[in-house]
Amino acid sequence: MAKKNDLSAKPVKSLNAEEAAAELERLARLIAKADGAYYAEDRPTMSDAEYDSLRRRNALIERDFPKLKRADSPSDKIGAAPSMKFEKSPHAVAMLSLDNAFDDEDVTEFDARVRRFLKIEAGAPLAFTAEPKIDGLSLNLRYVNGELANAATRGDGAVGENVTANVLSVPDIPRTLRGAPETLEVRGEIYMSHSDFKALNALLEKDGDEPFANPRNAAAGSLRQIDSAVTASRPLRFFAYAWGEISAPLADTQTGAVARLKEFGFSTNPLMMRCRSVDEMLAHYSVIEKQRAGLGYDIDGVVYKVDRIDYQERLGFVSRSPRWAVAHKFPAEQARTILEAIEIQVGRTGALTPVARLKPVTVGGVVVSNATLHNQDEIERKDIRVGDTVVVQRAGDVIPQIVEVVTDNRQPGARKFKFPDSCPVCGSHAVREEGEAVRRCTGGLVCAAQAKERLKHFVSRGAFDIEGLGEKQIEAFFDAAIVTEPAQIFTLEKRQKSGDVELYAYKTKADGSLALNKEGAKQPTNLKSVENLFAAINERREPALDRFINALGMRHIGETNARLLARHYGTFSALQTAAIEAGAEGPAYDDMLSIDGVGALVAGGVIEFFKEDHNRDAVLRLLEEVTPQEMKIAQSASSVAGKTVVFTGSLETLTRDEAKAQALALGAKVSGSVSARTDYLVAGPGAGSKLKNAQALGVHVLTEEQWRDLIGA
Ligand code: IVH
Repeated sequence: MAKKNDLSAKPVKSLNAEEAAAELERLARLIAKADGAYYAEDRPTMSDAEYDSLRRRNALIERDFPKLKRADSPSDKIGAAPSMKFEKSPHAVAMLSLDNAFDDEDVTEFDARVRRFLKIEAGAPLAFTAEPKIDGLSLNLRYVNGELANAATRGDGAVGENVTANVLSVPDIPRTLRGAPETLEVRGEIYMSHSDFKALNALLEKDGDEPFANPRNAAAGSLRQIDSAVTASRPLRFFAYAWGEISAPLADTQTGAVARLKEFGFSTNPLMMRCRSVDEMLAHYSVIEKQRAGLGYDIDGVVYKVDRIDYQERLGFVSRSPRWAVAHKFPAEQARTILEAIEIQVGRTGALTPVARLKPVTVGGVVVSNATLHNQDEIERKDIRVGDTVVVQRAGDVIPQIVEVVTDNRQPGARKFKFPDSCPVCGSHAVREEGEAVRRCTGGLVCAAQAKERLKHFVSRGAFDIEGLGEKQIEAFFDAAIVTEPAQIFTLEKRQKSGDVELYAYKTKADGSLALNKEGAKQPTNLKSVENLFAAINERREPALDRFINALGMRHIGETNARLLARHYGTFSALQTAAIEAGAEGPAYDDMLSIDGVGALVAGGVIEFFKEDHNRDAVLRLLEEVTPQEMKIAQSASSVAGKTVVFTGSLETLTRDEAKAQALALGAKVSGSVSARTDYLVAGPGAGSKLKNAQALGVHVLTEEQWRDLIGA
């Protein structure tokens, strides 16, 4: 509460000159401190709203007392632009994530999947490694001729941040290696031990700085320092567990390769073990789980990897994760708290999702104040009422969930929640279709919430991924009616230059965000960040076709399906033409369904989208601004690139999955059914109707051996 002589509570109008000077001094100090915490520490100390109000007050005082403006006035300062904070560092080999397994059954299924793919019978030998999954952040270390040449964070998997200067002080990271291949990329996890984390937080608190929420954040915040001297003062550690580009293989097995990493001088995890069966894997999981609390660093599961590297190579990858590894997560952490309110959020397809607002509680080191409630039925099934004590759980990066209500001491005041039958944002009817779990707003185009969510999806990571244009900026731009549809993102610069809009960044943050000036200043005062945003937007004028398709946000089309469509059609106009031609039947429809992985639901999503005039119009306006690239299928020199292949019958040397994956990797399209557009039918013993069909249509039929010759396998 404001004290009597507390200037901060006094309206600017009633300050005298002396008080104004004192206030300007106080504000400069506070803002500089907040900036430091934000840009340099990855750890904001105040909310955006608080920060903004400080700057606003500073500007108002300066306006009334221009002579008192300080030499170090915050109004003249610009925060560090994110893109300049770290250089970008493209990865020679993509840095992927791992699929998760949550119980023993998932692990058994993983083993079975690998066996099916490799055609290894149950009972035949197949070894895996099992090791702790370190809860830190992954890092790629590139050594050339034994010298550390580059260190990069994972970033989006394709491009990371160059943190070379910062890792030089990490004792677990050797600067030179002896006996290493000419090019060697070592991958592993940067983390902070519990004791170091506690000591660091104590130090920060002593200096009046905000402590980190958990060791992972502390490790990330410490690594991502602009000043490498600060990183050097932070006790970071590193475990090596994988590799990226290498000019010569390290070993034949995962076990052997990790042993080599150890010989080179890296720390490797002592709990890694070679297992010869699922039982051994699960037993080792229990061993690691029992040791978890005493390890001194955070782990969140156990990673299993196929030991033989030739197998790993055959297994390859599906979208973002390898087929040869899986992360067996530890059970979620739980805590009890009070459900204070239930709010409804409207998603991009109009789905009304109830969100629980909770009394903040720490669950496994992270403060949780929101949890998803999924839908109406879930609330009813669990009989969740506002005011209840609930058990919340958090598992990995997923949104926290409410497991159950603690009913033994239910408060008499706990109220049942009445699910709305109209959209809380636009007021349109919200209907629940037969057999659907969700209630949807019928507002479509008139619903601001849907439009906003669509825009957020449009700029998201797997779509246009525009640096400095995230959810917050979309909110601000949408509310100010500056960007209400995708095409308008790309006309921002033109409109700014012609004076139609005024973007003025009074705050540029470490994540590149640009906030709108709510005070309506005439002059953009931070042109640099506005220019940075335009540059980032312009960088995206030729998006990859799959990203472009994903960005449109058609029902049932996410990253994976967008990629399938992009691969099949090659160009956006081919997709659009096909979607318009394809009713619910006919050759265009059959062709779409012939894409392996595309069923009626997905096809329906595409077709329905293009049926709507307003969607076609919005796409047209967008295409005036951006040009999706052609998906170059012929990237590989393979003779099967661009060809459509169908596999039937049983195969001898390969499994069906493996054959498909191989064909896709060579740029072929794999289809599940034979049509006039099929180029090859690879028929093994037992082939039936597909073979007959192919013969009738004059499709080229190959034996497995002929196919292998064709692809040079
Ligand atoms: S192997 C191709 N091994 O988990 C994937 N990852 O969820 C190679 N991680 O991005 C990763 N401990 O940051 C592997 N022992 C371990 C790991 C580990 C932690 C992280 C890594 C990865 C993430 C995937």
